[in-house]
Formats: sequence, structure tokens, C-alpha cells
Amino acid sequence: MNQVLEKIQKLKNKRNAVILAHNYQPGEIQDLADFTGDSLGLSIQASKTDAEVIVFCGVLFMAETAAILSPRKTVLLPDKTAGCPMADMITADQLRDLKAKHPDALVVCYVNSSAEVKAESDYCCTSSNAVEVVNSLPKEKQIIFVPDQHLGRFVVERTGRDLVLWPGYCATHVVITQDDIKNKKEKYPDAIVMTHPECTEPVKEISDQLLSTGQMLRFAKKNPEKQFIIATEIGIIHTLKKQNPASEFIAASDRAICPNMKKITLDKIIGSLEDMQHKVTIPEMISIKAKKALDRMVETLPTK
Ligand code: 13P
Ligand code: SF4
Repeated sequence: MNQVLEKIQKLKNKRNAVILAHNYQPGEIQDLADFTGDSLGLSIQASKTDAEVIVFCGVLFMAETAAILSPRKTVLLPDKTAGCPMADMITADQLRDLKAKHPDALVVCYVNSSAEVKAESDYCCTSSNAVEVVNSLPKEKQIIFVPDQHLGRFVVERTGRDLVLWPGYCATHVVITQDDIKNKKEKYPDAIVMTHPECTEPVKEISDQLLSTGQMLRFAKKNPEKQFIIATEIGIIHTLKKQNPASEFIAASDRAICPNMKKITLDKIIGSLEDMQHKVTIPEMISIKAKKALDRMVETLPTK
């Protein structure tokens, strides 16, 4: 194991590279990364880093976001097939059709979307600042929100705005059921239920805290020595446990695994740095348009 880590370190030095890892990555990858975080935190890191190369341990839309925010850097995705099925649930053509039906509406797209969809959007957001982004828009304006219907409903509930939603969803989060939460609450009656807004409404209804993955990590740190039921992808439990050894973390469902996030391995990171694979490139016209929506996203700080 140590030899593998040494090899990665040498390659990082040779390439002047930084490793960013999402909170859902396999534990050993989160452990070796220079920065771990949620989509917003990693986007901010990607826009600030001095490194020439960013190895993005996450899924394609995250690596694309890093490439758009840092157009002069080389962004590598260690497995080019690591996509996000939710991001593929709306195409730029479908969004253009929706815009034609609501010609005066502003478009807010969740960062879990393709670069082409971002280029068709006015604003981008993550789950940690979706409410703040929507609240910043003029009250009289209609808003189209794509692609996640569940995050969209959470934003409707928090802002009181009537959004035009798209029927996208995350297959990993919708497997968590209200019964899963009820069963865990019966077993751990004092536990605090932390739930990602991508979960379904029946799950969110009986949860205590609706938070992005980065907000979950901050909330756990602020509330030491507690029990938590975690309703999101189970990869985050590794870092929650590491940062809070006196607390207990219980997965709401062991089935909540994002297969794409788990495609990244240590060997693929080595291959990526050795061969400078797989470079994530965005056509310039798309990148320039998408950057406007993304710049607004990184400028809008969450209140939590
Ligand atoms: P976060 O921004 O909360 O990390 O969520 C990213 C994601 O893909 C959730 O499924
Ligand atoms: Fe996409 Fe869901 Fe995986 Fe997040 S957990 S990357 S939304 S498929």
C-alpha cells in the first residue's frame, strides 16, 4: 500500500498535480487526496489551485466543471466511463425545448448536468447553495430548475417559489425508502437523521437535517458524540467516522452506493498520472457560456 502511495506522490510531483476527491469516493482515495469535499467545495478548490494538473476523483460532470472553471489547467478523470446518470437525464436540446415553452424564465441548473446544459443555463447551483441561488433571483421571474426533481422540490419548499421542474432523479438516492429511515429510527431512537436533498420527499419528511455532503461533515463536527443516521451515498461515512471518532454513523441503506463514484481506483490514478489520461476537454464556445453560470455558482455562498 505504502509503495502505491509513494508512487502516486512521485507522479504528482513530476506532473505538478493535485488530487481532488468527492466525499463519495472509496475511503483510500479520500485519504490520499489533497482536498476532499462536496461539489461546491471541489469546484472552489479547482478554481483556486496553482497546480498544473487536476486529477479529479469523482464523476464526469465534476471534472468538466473543474475544466471550465480552470480552462488553462489539465483536468484528468482516471476512469472516463465514470458518469452521473442523473446528469444525462436532460440534454441541451430538451432544455432548449423547455425554454421555448417558458421564454421569459430564468434557468437554474444543478451542477449535476452536462457542460452543454450548463451553457444553456443562466445560473448553476449545487445542493449546498441551490436555495441561496434561487432566493437571489428577482421575485417576479419564473424559474426553470433542471434536472433533479427532488432537489427542485426541496428548493420550492425552502424558497416558496414555484419552479418549473424536470423529472430527473438520482438512482442511488431514490433507493433509500421511508421504511429504511423508520427502521433505523426504531433501532437508534436518539439518532439525528441527516439526509441529502436528492432523496425522495417521504424520506425528507421524516428527516432532521437536509444537507449537502459538505454540510453533513460540518454539522457532525459541530455536534460531537452523537448518533447519526446517514441518508446519502455511503462513501461519506468513511470520512464522517475518521473526523468524529466519538460519534456513531449508521447508513440509512447499505444499497445507497453510486457505482460510478466507485469506478476510481488507486491503479487508475497511477495510470492517469503516468499517461495523462483521460483529459477532459470542453469545446470553447460551450465552456465560455457554461462558465458564466458556474461563476455565479461559486460566488453564491451557502448559509450553512
Ligand atoms: P454534494 O454536492 O452534496 O456533494 O452532492 C453531489 C452528488 O452527486 C450527490 O449525489
Ligand atoms: Fe450522480 Fe447520484 Fe452518483 Fe451523485 S450519487 S454522482 S447524483 S448518480
